[in-house]
Amino acid sequence: MVGLLDGSWPERLYDAHDSCHGGPRAGARSESFEFFPRVRRRVRRPTMVDLCAGHGLVGLIFALCEPSVTRVELVDARQPASFERIWTAFTAIAPWVAEKVSYREAALDESLRLPTEAGVVLAHACGGLTDLGLDCAIASGGLVAAMPCCYGTARGPRMPALSKSFGRSANIDITRSCRLADAGYQVDWTHIPQAITTMNRVLAGWDRQPPRPSPAGGVGSQDPHPVD
Ligand SMILES: C[S@@+](CC[C@H](N)C(=O)[O-])C[C@H]1O[C@@H](n2cnc3c(N)ncnc32)[C@H](O)[C@@H]1O
Repeated sequence: MVGLLDGSWPERLYDAHDSCHGGPRAGARSESFEFFPRVRRRVRRPTMVDLCAGHGLVGLIFALCEPSVTRVELVDARQPASFERIWTAFTAIAPWVAEKVSYREAALDESLRLPTEAGVVLAHACGGLTDLGLDCAIASGGLVAAMPCCYGTARGPRMPALSKSFGRSANIDITRSCRLADAGYQVDWTHIPQAITTMNRVLAGWDRQPPRPSPAGGVGSQDPHPVD
């Protein structure tokens, strides 16, 4: 682990990865390396799930850097060829990654079940996949961090009129944040550098508390204002 703490390990991974010829494009690599430090304290749990994982970099970085993370499940509809290459690079540098990580080919839909109380990450899960991923995280009692990308298939905002002031994508993320807050999460937003991607907003739902009783006396565990 010592070499990981001197700050050189991303470069070493890049080098090792490049020597494996291919893998995720440089931008996606940087996105993952920027996303990780912004969410690690918020969502770190012994079990992590990387939804719409693609090359799996975010989950792999958790496995590599976080000793308290003992299991990482990468989930994607299809394991891309780039995963094998980045896996080779990671396990060469950090052999302990191999025993933590599994890749599950599964569609992200309403029927997907996640391990309970996991830390769930969604890095650029397209459109409505981010919404489905938040649903799955909430249902499983997990913590969750998402860096949304395109919004074309995303669920609409709760208050469409706000799009005039904030823009549609921010308004959709406000609605997503409200859903997390309604489910008992602390919610905050951060950003990775815009120079890396303009889809750089990061939503984190953490420190989940039991939902407060609703004014009507029932437990407000259901979103009172469903948006779809
Ligand atoms: C833009 S990529 C993001 C990959 C990676 N997380 C990243 O940070 O670069 C979106 C991923 O979602 C996956 N995907 C698309 N539809 C899906 C579905 N219905 N269920 C699960 N994964 C899906 C794709 O295979 C692709 O790997």
